[in-house]
Amino acid sequence: MDLELAGKSVVITGGARGIGLACVEAFAREGARVAILDWNADDLAQAEETIRTTGAEVITRQVDVSNAEAVDAGHAYVIEQFGGIDVGFNNAGINSPFRPIEETLEEDWDRVIAVNLKGIWLCVRAQVRHMKPRGQGAIICTTSNVAFAGAPGAGGYVAAKHGIVGIVRTVALELATTGVRINAVAPGAIRTKLGTRLGTFVDPFPDALIRQGLPIGRWGEPQEVADAVLWLASKRSNLALGETLVMDGGFLAQ
Ligand SMILES: NC(=O)c1ccc[n+]([C@@H]2O[C@H](COP(=O)([O-])OP(=O)(O)OC[C@H]3O[C@@H](n4cnc5c(N)ncnc54)[C@H](O)[C@@H]3O)[C@@H](O)[C@H]2O)c1
Repeated sequence: MDLELAGKSVVITGGARGIGLACVEAFAREGARVAILDWNADDLAQAEETIRTTGAEVITRQVDVSNAEAVDAGHAYVIEQFGGIDVGFNNAGINSPFRPIEETLEEDWDRVIAVNLKGIWLCVRAQVRHMKPRGQGAIICTTSNVAFAGAPGAGGYVAAKHGIVGIVRTVALELATTGVRINAVAPGAIRTKLGTRLGTFVDPFPDALIRQGLPIGRWGEPQEVADAVLWLASKRSNLALGETLVMDGGFLAQ
């Protein structure tokens, strides 16, 4: 299936490692030009070098997605460098230490909501401001399978991931006739630093179903999420608007 992504300008947040980096690599393999926005300067530099050695066109910019000015300046930089943005993949996210809701710290709640929910809104806002007047574009946001299920000990993270589904549905309707589409991808347990490090937190709910792994009996791989993201970014998914594509090895089927 030709995804017709060659030459497209793609901006990816949290693209310096993990699922984001797998998507950077996948878009680059399709011949797209990729801009990575991430707050981790070391990982950004390493990712840029890795992608550049493949011959692909890549630019990077250090951005904290929870900071409005930084998000707007990052998008302005990409538009200036690439002449426009065709695809926005809003993927940057963090987790929080597991705590029961009554012991959750305000600073942990505020941080996870700021990065995982406000950060999505800020990036979507910057992208819509650019894409809507052009009458074209595809936006994909990373949520999680815990957008559709509880995860004991992770109230703030789960609230943010539920919230992303709401933003995506709402903005999809606002944009339905404009030529700009927005959808989400919802991974389950994926083998990344964020995914595997969850096991290092002291877990007050170790027997919760969400901790028991995926029905397929293995971790998902970042590349397997990238396959879904590329499809959502392409014209092959033109009829998908406000959809959340779950890539969780059957967890939510339980
Ligand atoms: N790995 C999993 O099991 C899993 C499951 C469901 C959903 N997710 C979601 O997938 C997304 C990517 O996660 P991952 O597993 O690749 O994690 P990761 O920690 O490997 O990568 C996340 C990237 O986002 C960047 N980032 C974090 N906060 C940022 C900020 N404020 N501004 C800019 N960049 C920031 C990090 O520097 C890093 O490069 C996240 O939104 C996460 O919630 C992951």
